[in-house]
Amino acid sequence: MPEQLHGVTGARLAAFAAEERARYTRARPRSAASAGAPGGGFYAGVPMHWMLDWPLPFAPVIAAGSGATLTDIDGIELTDFCLGDTGAMFGHSPPAVVRALTAQATRGLTYMLPTAGAEDVARLLRERFGLPYWQVATTASDANRFALRLTRAVTERPKILAMNGSYHGAVDETYVGLEDGRPQNCPGLIGQFIDLTTATEVVEFNDVAALERALAAGDVACVITEPVLTNCCMVLPQAGYHAALRRLTRAAGTLLLIDETHTISTGPGGYCRAHGLEPDLLVLGKPVAGGVPVSVWGFNAAVAAGWDRVRRRTPAGHSGLGTTLSGNALAMATLRATLAEVMTPAAYAHMQTQAARLADGLSAAIARGALPWHVVRVGARVEFICAPGPLCNGSDGRRARAPELEQAIHVGLLNRGCLITPFHNMMLVCPATTAAQVDQLVGAFGDVLGALAG
Ligand SMILES: Cc1ncc(COP(=O)(O)O)c(C=O)c1O
Repeated sequence: MPEQLHGVTGARLAAFAAEERARYTRARPRSAASAGAPGGGFYAGVPMHWMLDWPLPFAPVIAAGSGATLTDIDGIELTDFCLGDTGAMFGHSPPAVVRALTAQATRGLTYMLPTAGAEDVARLLRERFGLPYWQVATTASDANRFALRLTRAVTERPKILAMNGSYHGAVDETYVGLEDGRPQNCPGLIGQFIDLTTATEVVEFNDVAALERALAAGDVACVITEPVLTNCCMVLPQAGYHAALRRLTRAAGTLLLIDETHTISTGPGGYCRAHGLEPDLLVLGKPVAGGVPVSVWGFNAAVAAGWDRVRRRTPAGHSGLGTTLSGNALAMATLRATLAEVMTPAAYAHMQTQAARLADGLSAAIARGALPWHVVRVGARVEFICAPGPLCNGSDGRRARAPELEQAIHVGLLNRGCLITPFHNMMLVCPATTAAQVDQLVGAFGDVLGALAG
């Protein structure tokens, strides 16, 4: 352990981490016995291998969730600021979604046919996000893959462009990053032997000149980006960046896909609506059906006309777009309920207020500890970053990460009853989160920082 790590003494961090890990383990005998126990039939003992990657001695096994609270099998109650890494951004089991699930439960869940009331969903999507045409998929990864495929078909161009440090789900073509300024396949992607850099350009977010150079050859079908990079710490767009991105993509005949899966935290119409962005395509997954696996992707009239042309010259079937369960009856019912009754301006107003309270509280604790850290908030999404800010791009985001320090903080917060998102330091506030729960997290964070920074 180095002597100093992001403003914290290495020795103090090591002692704190050991003590907190022991305390965490002592409190959870049942989770310890169950989580990742081999031999039960699941590979690595869990339904998804990455459940073992939480920065904890072992993951707490959850018995139930409600609103902003989880209860684990050791009977410990946790205030949930992870909220399924956005999937439960509107709380666990929002009542309107439960009603829709219950009503649909006895009427069939999947038919492979359009369902009554689907036009209601299309209208809600159009009104809310401003794009005229929509398709429904199952995950944000799916929606991004399908949308990117369509942009290549429509433009008849082979390449896409992604931002360094970005994440858009299990979408192979976006797994390209910059290593010492050179593009390469992301090292974590397994089983991919094709050099993805032959079909994916990668540039730093906020770098207008690099973007212009990458689009100059006229072979890029689509730029895919989040409006704020949320998966490499949190990187905000610099003044004028989105205007330049839109101007340059239009000039190059390149489509612009904005992935709002995380930035839907901004407000009822996402970041695009709040900031007047004009994407050609928009993707939204995770919380859009209240935690049921559903995603949507929308596009403008020009893309729709392009798709018409493609369909006229392509035989039907096996298009690479859509899966059997996409847009099924359960998806449509829960999507309608979430859009109409859960993602309301009133819900967002509450989330914004509580998230602002959280961001202020965290900033004050950082200031008290005189730590060189900062806090970023995008609507209901808050992140503390263990480095000075603002960050400019994905490389900055990578340098700002402090895995050992962050792990100790995550365990420390859990021992004080608060769960935040693993792999980075993101916290979400849902409509059910109370001011007292926000204060609980602020208090826990202050306590942890007090122990770490003295
Ligand atoms: C911005 C963004 N887009 C898409 C995805 C993929 O979502 P899913 O894993 O639900 O397919 C993620 C996942 O974290 C994401 O952060």
